[in-house]
Amino acid sequence: MKKVLALLMAVVMMFSLVACGGGETGGETADVTTYKVGVAIYQYNDNFMTLYRNEIADYFKTLETDTVKYDVTFVDGKNSMDEQSNQIDTFITQGMDVIICNLVQTSSAEVIIDKVVAADIPLVLINREPLGDNGDESYAGILDNPTVCYVGADARQSGTYQGEIVLSLEDKGDINGDGTVKYIMIMGDVENPDAQYRTEFSVKALTDAGVKVECLYQDTAAWDQTKGQELVANALTQFGKDIEVVFCNNDGMALGAAQALKDAGRVVGEDVYLLGVDALTECVEMVGNGEMTGTVLNDHIGQSHAAVDVAVKALNGEAMDNYYWVNYVKVDKAYVDAQ
Ligand code: BGC
Repeated sequence: MKKVLALLMAVVMMFSLVACGGGETGGETADVTTYKVGVAIYQYNDNFMTLYRNEIADYFKTLETDTVKYDVTFVDGKNSMDEQSNQIDTFITQGMDVIICNLVQTSSAEVIIDKVVAADIPLVLINREPLGDNGDESYAGILDNPTVCYVGADARQSGTYQGEIVLSLEDKGDINGDGTVKYIMIMGDVENPDAQYRTEFSVKALTDAGVKVECLYQDTAAWDQTKGQELVANALTQFGKDIEVVFCNNDGMALGAAQALKDAGRVVGEDVYLLGVDALTECVEMVGNGEMTGTVLNDHIGQSHAAVDVAVKALNGEAMDNYYWVNYVKVDKAYVDAQ
């Protein structure tokens, strides 16, 4: 009877330990720490940021252990700075342990940084680099704060790679041989440094190499495929066969451009060249089969992992740097064939 009682006591004790969950259980049941992470994305309706967002979620899961869990909340800014600002306020009220933010507007960086810093929460900015007043300097709002950092890729590199892909072609983009490369530029969002730098540096690579260029048409399609298609269709109506190179600041818009070119009976690689950035899977396939001239890998895996790694550092109370850079990779036909 004594033995049965002892056994019963042991079972009761075991249950009370399990019921304590993360409390001071001691013994073999370890404590579980759950960190609250808030991730604000500028808008879900963006091909590249969707890949990036999903990888943040997946990567956090791989870092979980028996004792450390991450409760990650994602919010969609719907491309509205007001909406995103409210979402950050809510994250603060909810007591997030760290915030990862893909700003809707880089010009609002200061407001967001100020309130997150005041709430004593580490902040990891991603994808949209806040710039200084002259638009070309590291942003003091980041540099002044040891708990704020930016994780991204240097968009100048991606623009240069687009230009270099054109330079590597036999005719260097001058299909009709008149001595001038006539191009159109389909931009992302004008206030976004990725859009500005890609626009500038793609063309700069050509002019630095002594190639004469002429911009026939430049407009913004806000990173969007449908708008990209509309703009390229417009440009084709205005300039027709004169267009030799179509530069798009991202692959989403390049997909739209590819459709518009097809509709107009143009053939990429024969009477026009088409460049994008991101290396979306379908675009890499198109580079392989000649439907696109080239793209540039915008490494969403490298960037999302770097962002999560630095967020975890901050959660562990470790110091973080102010900037983390991930390289772009040039994706032309030779690169795809070699894969
Ligand atoms: C990507 C675009 C994306 C944008 C969002 C850029 O780095 O190339 O595809 O729309 O980020 O901010």
